[in-house]
Amino acid sequence: MTLLDTIKARRSVRTFDGRKLTGEDMKRIQECIDDLSNPYDIPVSFVLMDAEKNHLSSPVLNGEKLYIAGKVPKVPHAEEAFGYAFERLVIYAWTLGIGTTWIGGTMKREVFETAAGLAEGERMPCMSPLGYPAKKMSLRETMMRKGVGADKRKASADLFFDGVMGRPLNAEGDMAEILEMVRWAPSAVNKQPWRILKLENAYHFFEKKDKGYISDAVGDMQKIDMGIALCHFVMGLEEKGMSYEFALADPGIVPAADEEYIATIIVEG
Ligand SMILES: Cc1cc2nc3c(=O)[nH]c(=O)nc-3n(C[C@H](O)[C@H](O)[C@H](O)COP(=O)(O)O)c2cc1C
Repeated sequence: MTLLDTIKARRSVRTFDGRKLTGEDMKRIQECIDDLSNPYDIPVSFVLMDAEKNHLSSPVLNGEKLYIAGKVPKVPHAEEAFGYAFERLVIYAWTLGIGTTWIGGTMKREVFETAAGLAEGERMPCMSPLGYPAKKMSLRETMMRKGVGADKRKASADLFFDGVMGRPLNAEGDMAEILEMVRWAPSAVNKQPWRILKLENAYHFFEKKDKGYISDAVGDMQKIDMGIALCHFVMGLEEKGMSYEFALADPGIVPAADEEYIATIIVEG
């Protein structure tokens, strides 16, 4: 299976079959956690939490026995770093047949933060269940997916631009495949806030902001989405054996009032 196949096949899983993860899968997940990094070098730490022992639940989930939460210091770019690192785990888990769902809203936040041992100066922006998908989705899950159009994404012409914002980028070959990986990334309420502007060999990532995604507990939720998009782009480059440099190199163009520059990936060769 190619990475693009994996990314397109992945979906949020909210209905689980009630089994605990096998010892082997727990070991693999732990190894993945130990290896996680992010291009901002901001420390993101992960905590696995037994649902029953910690009295944890979420109104949108069924049958889950285990959660993973991530914690990050309240510093600039923490959200992107968090999104990037956590998404690596989400993709890896899917390759093992383990389902996840990014949860930033539909939980009793204080209970999860206490169970995760959140310290002063830290945030726990999101958590996810970890488990084996049930054969059939709950009615609520089916309805939720319909509500946000979870099986669809915006067209690439609305997301990826060439030379100037608004002019669609006609990427070919490997780069077209990598952008498709970004297009299919998960995002809060499936808003897909990422916009990419290509200037020569630099891919500048911008956030198109919607209202209502900023809070003290999370920071800017849509910057987490941006970290997820960066993660998919970089994983795509890695799969294709293409070298790149990560940079904060604002191209200096004036974005629309609801857009913010996030980061740049310079693709070499
Ligand atoms: C940062 C972030 C926060 C999210 N928060 C929630 C949440 O609180 N509850 C929920 O049910 N889904 C949540 N989601 C899942 C999205 O709704 C889902 O990824 C999106 O609709 C696309 O569907 P898919 O993941 O099945 O492709 C969140 C996703 C992201 C990336």
